[in-house]
Amino acid sequence: MDRFGLDESLKGEIRERVFGAGFMKLVQSVRRGGSTFRISLRPVSIGGREMYQAESFEGGQTKVKNLDAKAAADGLEEILDQPGARDLHLMTATGDLHVRVTRKGHAMASRSAPMNRDAKVLPHDREKNLPLSRFDSSALLKATGIADASGAVRASMRGKYDQVNEFLKVVAETVPEKCDGTFTVVDCGCGKAYLTLAMRQFLSEALGYADVKVIGVDRREDVVESARRAAEALDVSGSAQFVASDLAAYDAGRVDMVVSLHACDTATDEALAKAVEWKAKYVLSAPCCQHELQRTLSDSGAFAGLMRQSILRERLCDILTDSFRAQIMRIVGYRTQVSEFVSSEATARNIMLKCVWGVKGAQPGPVSEYLALRDYWHVVPWLETRLGDRFAKLLERYE
Ligand SMILES: C[S@@+](CC[C@H](N)C(=O)[O-])C[C@H]1O[C@@H](n2cnc3c(N)ncnc32)[C@H](O)[C@@H]1O
Repeated sequence: MDRFGLDESLKGEIRERVFGAGFMKLVQSVRRGGSTFRISLRPVSIGGREMYQAESFEGGQTKVKNLDAKAAADGLEEILDQPGARDLHLMTATGDLHVRVTRKGHAMASRSAPMNRDAKVLPHDREKNLPLSRFDSSALLKATGIADASGAVRASMRGKYDQVNEFLKVVAETVPEKCDGTFTVVDCGCGKAYLTLAMRQFLSEALGYADVKVIGVDRREDVVESARRAAEALDVSGSAQFVASDLAAYDAGRVDMVVSLHACDTATDEALAKAVEWKAKYVLSAPCCQHELQRTLSDSGAFAGLMRQSILRERLCDILTDSFRAQIMRIVGYRTQVSEFVSSEATARNIMLKCVWGVKGAQPGPVSEYLALRDYWHVVPWLETRLGDRFAKLLERYE
């Protein structure tokens, strides 16, 4: 057995779990030098036949292969014999197995408590159920560069394609089934408008909205230009406008929905603040990197050991920032849910705040929880400062 090899009993357990009943997915990430090679195996049903799908990701390239049981067994042996430090996560209906092989070659296995999950085998034609497959999206995908000239989704754009699809799923479960009037959406930090234009096409072509207007706002001239060109190529410039501006300086007036997908740092807060000011009924926001709290959170006290580790500090600040955001949106009157809109394998930035206007604001529960969290960490969240007097008034009864 080489230095990184797994012992035979562990390999046997993995084989049994993969080829036994209730197998859901196996993912292995191998660290090589500065990069990570990831491979996954999952059961699929192709034309009613039980098969396995192997997906590998390395250097920005994703490769997918469908395998019969024999080929899957060979593939699994290759996975088990990969050299190097690695993490393997195996999910079955009855529980998870984690194996970590350290840089020194020590293998550590841990098992979850028994579970009783529904291990549905996904049909291979899962694509048919995706929002971007509910209408003819080929022109959209080509115009935005997600697909190449032949219409195939570019490997480098697979992540964005998945994010947009998953984002649109949340849109579909949030907005009304029908809309006969004008429905206006502002995409804050729209970048090259992958989401903005997909949203326009999805609402009008898949949901049949009568009059959809989308506005993408981004402070970068070059991406706004590229978004405008894509809108022209799709012949939708009249209903898809793009504005080169800092969000803080932009006023949309009346808006039905505000969205943001990975708007950097406080741009997400700015998007939420604008949504509140514009009285948007729906707000869907997938935050990005968050630096603001990292700059202000104290390094001392009981959390000093955690704060010294930059990755842990970053994650703690991400969680705190999103907790503050969710609580602030509840206090101003939005029913707010926090969920993962796309898998964490696709992107670590996979949190979504879904806010729907219409609950009584400034309720004692959310306010006292907010104040307790804020005061515990001795910080004033950026969004609170940004909302100013409007928000201070909601808190003052309880402070
Ligand atoms: C990570 S990109 C995401 C772009 C796009 N939403 C997507 O998912 O492809 C973030 C974008 O937000 C824009 N941005 C960041 N801060 C901004 C601000 N204060 N005002 C306007 N745009 C901003 C950046 O220029 C960038 O294009």
